[in-house]
Amino acid sequence: MTTSRDFLEVDDLTHAELSALLDTMVEWKDDPRAIPKPLAGRGVALVFEKPSARTRNSGEMAVVGLGGHPITIRHDEISIDVRESAEDVARTLAAFHAIVAARVFDHTVLERMSAAVDIPIVNLLSDRAHPCQALADLLTIRELLGSLEGRRVAYVGDGNNVAASLAYGAALTGLELVVSSPAGYELDELVVDRARNLGGVIELVSDPLDAVVGADIVYTDTWTSMGEEAEADVRREVFRGWQVDDVLMAAAGADARFLHCLPAHRGEEVAASVIDGPASAVWLQAANRMHSKRALFAFLMEDDFLKEEA
Ligand code: CP
Ligand code: NVA
Repeated sequence: MTTSRDFLEVDDLTHAELSALLDTMVEWKDDPRAIPKPLAGRGVALVFEKPSARTRNSGEMAVVGLGGHPITIRHDEISIDVRESAEDVARTLAAFHAIVAARVFDHTVLERMSAAVDIPIVNLLSDRAHPCQALADLLTIRELLGSLEGRRVAYVGDGNNVAASLAYGAALTGLELVVSSPAGYELDELVVDRARNLGGVIELVSDPLDAVVGADIVYTDTWTSMGEEAEADVRREVFRGWQVDDVLMAAAGADARFLHCLPAHRGEEVAASVIDGPASAVWLQAANRMHSKRALFAFLMEDDFLKEEA
């Protein structure tokens, strides 16, 4: 039985914790002198079974900002469940680090790591969830719109890990979410049910043109996630009608903004004219990966310190 706080999905946080975390992100972004150093003299392991540009760099810089030392470990250096078990990897890393963060193919690897050690485990993307992305998404939407509650996000595309974490993030902050995906690629029913149980307003609609009407934000992600490359040709056909293009953005309205977790595939899930056009806020969103993860790591350390003092 381990007691430390993990962050495997957004709903590991309560409504109040997520709200406070978002306030901290804004506060520290506005005033970097307010950033504490809870990781001074401590390490954070960042393990990657899949490639990354934003998550690795934002993660390393978030740790540095909190006074800590990040060590990034690539899959071929550690080979979880091949060279040694996920549990033994976690036990080893916990001997040197305050937090273990990992990007994995199989979400259950994170759960096994969590069960094996008593330090925070953070999900840097799994087949099921991308909660650190959702934190940056919420911060970005709050910055763009000034608020989250009652605002409307249309997610157009694959009902994948990014969509699932966005659904939980929306549910916990009062953002309304409309999701349009091709048949067979919808958001998992369990995710929709859980998000609704958290108070979320989630609509599932088949036509992307219907989904975007009244949206403040139009969001999409790749049609083929990492690990699904063998399905890429089929997915290109299935998702053809779900490209976020100028027609879709026009249907959303003149003030609608565009978000994408990146990496983007121009001409597939998004038209170049949209992602490179005036509605796009994807570079603010990418930069917010660091601001959001810094607040998250500090929150997890705060919890750790509280536990040590108890
Ligand atoms: N959005 C995101 O997680 O990007 P990377 O895969 O580059 O980390
Ligand atoms: N859904 C994508 C997100 C990449 C950041 C994937 O899992 O590959």
